Amino acid sequence: MITTLVTGANGEIGHSLLETLSKQSDRRIIALDLSPLGHGLAELVHRSVQGDVSDPAVVAELETEDIDEIYHLAALLSTSSEKNPALAHQVNVNGTMGLLMMARRIGTRTGRAVKFLFPSTIAVYGMKSVEAKNAAGAVTEFEHLQPTTMYGINKVYCEQLGGYMSDRFGQLTDEAGAKVLDFRALRFPGLISATTVPTGGTSDYAPEMIHAAAQGKAYACFVRPDARIPFMAMPDGVKALLDLAAAPMENLTQRVYNIGAFAPSAEEIAAKVKSAFPNAEISYAPHPKRQAIVDSWCADVNDSVARRDWGWSPDYDMDRAFNEYLIPTISKVYSKA
Ligand code: SER
Repeated sequence: MITTLVTGANGEIGHSLLETLSKQSDRRIIALDLSPLGHGLAELVHRSVQGDVSDPAVVAELETEDIDEIYHLAALLSTSSEKNPALAHQVNVNGTMGLLMMARRIGTRTGRAVKFLFPSTIAVYGMKSVEAKNAAGAVTEFEHLQPTTMYGINKVYCEQLGGYMSDRFGQLTDEAGAKVLDFRALRFPGLISATTVPTGGTSDYAPEMIHAAAQGKAYACFVRPDARIPFMAMPDGVKALLDLAAAPMENLTQRVYNIGAFAPSAEEIAAKVKSAFPNAEISYAPHPKRQAIVDSWCADVNDSVARRDWGWSPDYDMDRAFNEYLIPTISKVYSKA
């Protein structure tokens, strides 16, 4: 039996991950979220804890469990983090540090290295200008790491922190060397789910556009038609987390991996949406600050190391994502509503 903790279980990735994990009979799932688990989720988990991931009392409660694997999804996304940077740091950084320390203590107690899966983001990139962004194209893990947002800064730091806590924590003390923590991170593109909508992200224009059209609502897109960043269908996001978790440690040559699927402009997304929903009303009302954030993110990612090390390959390119996942599923969701 694998005891798995999912933080931010009520969030977008959490929803899809719980649905997939709960189908595996050898899992004992513990869910943490600030709010009570949403409709249909509570019955998928063995234990549900309600509370703030950065609260030491919550961590102490979770620590009583012999946890094998942690999917640490709880975070404030980029737009929310710009609105409340101090809270973002508290949750995104201090919350992560608290869980990493907890994971080390659990690993020390059980004698098994706790696997720690961390969703990082394309927000760790900081392109200096739209021209530089377009010229750079698909970026590797180690270039252009000068994020302009609190969220990007929090995530790039926690990527480093996870490696340190796994490999060098206490390197001048007796604690050094013990393999009690196994941190692995994925840099997610904007994720698009057919069944949930994101809150507080800056890649939200894509899912918002699609969900608005499916409900027959007009949508004013908050970035320019030419704005381009990578996106991914949610089932591929979940698959990537599970595949990276399952990869043998000796195959992994780095702790942080880019993963890509498709990288459309806002206008290309709008064209797809209009072909599925011909009455869709999409206009553009760029929000200068959110536009600047999207302009600072890379146009595409180079994920060749993930492909080589653990066989990453998305199931959904843009056509398949729309034709076989988003449009049919979303249409069902709103026809029931
Ligand atoms: N979807 C995230 C955001 O918009 C980016 O990782 O904040």
